[in-house]
Amino acid sequence: MSAPDKHDPATVADTTWAVHGGNAIDPATGALRTPLVLANSYLLPEDASEVSWSDPNRLVYARNGHVNQRALESKLAALDGGEQAAVFATGVAALHAVFFTHLRSGDHVVVSSVTYEAVWRLFAELLPERYGIEATFVDSTDLDAVRAAMRPATRLVHVETIANPTTAVTDIAAVAEIAHTGGALLSVDGTFTPPPLYRPLADGADLVVHSLTKFINGHGDATGGAVIGSHELVGKIRGDAGVDVGGMLAPFNAWLIMRGSVTLPLRLRQHLASAQRIAEALDADPRIAFVAYPGLPGHPQHELATRQFGGRGHGAVLAFALDGDTAVQNRFVNALRVITSAVSLGHDETLIVHVAAGARGGDEHYPEQFQRYGHLRLAVGLEDPEDLTADISNALSVAFP
Ligand SMILES: Cc1ncc(COP(=O)(O)O)c(C=O)c1O
Repeated sequence: MSAPDKHDPATVADTTWAVHGGNAIDPATGALRTPLVLANSYLLPEDASEVSWSDPNRLVYARNGHVNQRALESKLAALDGGEQAAVFATGVAALHAVFFTHLRSGDHVVVSSVTYEAVWRLFAELLPERYGIEATFVDSTDLDAVRAAMRPATRLVHVETIANPTTAVTDIAAVAEIAHTGGALLSVDGTFTPPPLYRPLADGADLVVHSLTKFINGHGDATGGAVIGSHELVGKIRGDAGVDVGGMLAPFNAWLIMRGSVTLPLRLRQHLASAQRIAEALDADPRIAFVAYPGLPGHPQHELATRQFGGRGHGAVLAFALDGDTAVQNRFVNALRVITSAVSLGHDETLIVHVAAGARGGDEHYPEQFQRYGHLRLAVGLEDPEDLTADISNALSVAFP
């Protein structure tokens, strides 16, 4: 291996790249960190006639590309093992950018039947009704079902590494093979398993999408999304959806996410360890109706998850329910004193959200227990795990007096 160079991701570990990747010394001041550049226009050359106004590779106008976007993109591309990254205002904007750019009227898509709610609505309603893009929802943990859903017109297969909220785990290498055999691309939402936990591109995915709002920023103070893949696929997304639809990531958010992502590998270790511990404690408690977490031996894809994620961990989001009705779930949530009731995940603080049965589009595809009890989605944060388990234990005593 060549000598480590903080500017060359091939020579350094993930933790080092997370600190230095994409960062440059500011030539004007010597500042060690890429400054926050809020200007939305850049000086044109003396002969402006040579400038292509929509060239995303030249700093002309912030919607096409800006300093903090570029810095973040070069960090994220290497962190996921891709050639290029394009960042957007939110995770959903990044997902939409993939679908908008790589699908046409008459195309068919195979989508995991459990998926983030906005993706569900895009493929169940908006894209078919408005643009004639047809989708088949399948259980993506069932490879025969994925194979059977492929058609000659299938252009894209879209899955989540760990599904939100059921925590079902898809075999990315196997689904990539099915997609490619059928002449389709595979896009993978890796939000629940950011690098260095998992890199879907290495298992054959064509595009990986992240909500940067979650673990990658990690501090609950910015929204963002990213798509990572080859120059060819991401370059087209950048041009079509970035420049000409315009959901760009604002400079300040790019700067915040760049800073938040410095500690991503270190934070992840704690998220993963605490989630495992809490899942085991809940699983051992008779007052809990069910726990869905890939780190538990009883999870249907436990072995796949352990192998696929290289033994590094099984994510930091779990779904469970107390053995009781809605009032019992609410009593538990309202008795928590460390964990906060709020949506989102991957933040420094632990968040819980109570989702009633029937509240989400497509939840008829969720496992039977989710339909019977609803579920509590717990996104484990960075507080001391003792405080988290004690908080849960106290709240359980209140819920079951
Ligand atoms: C798996 C997954 N993908 C995408 C998103 C959307 O991200 P954003 O809220 O940044 O648009 C979320 C949000 O919760 C998510 O959980």
